[in-house]
Amino acid sequence: MAEFQTVAHVGDIPEGGGRSFCVKGKMIAIFFVKGEYSAINDLCPHMGASLAAGYVEDNGVICPWHAWRFCIKSGTWLDNPNSKTRTESYPVRLIGNEIQVEVPDLAPKP
Ligand code: FES
Repeated sequence: MAEFQTVAHVGDIPEGGGRSFCVKGKMIAIFFVKGEYSAINDLCPHMGASLAAGYVEDNGVICPWHAWRFCIKSGTWLDNPNSKTRTESYPVRLIGNEIQVEVPDLAPKP
């Protein structure tokens, strides 16, 4: 079941940047840009680099390994928006000074 979980606090993520956190066994990249938080899967779908370590420009993050760009709000691959290649995005909320993200449970293994 998906429910919001506190992963960081205000001040932990620098303005204009991202940090990665392990949530329910998944690495999640949380970005803080123009006063808003957003969250996507931290693993680049190309070869698995940490997107939280990428360069943030407007609403996109540039992967540090091969420069593919992803939307930090939707996970869309900005270099080819019509492609099925994308990364997941997750709801984020601020409760007091707690940054919370809602990540679904991993599917049980058959
Ligand atoms: S690992 Fe991200 S673009 Fe290659």
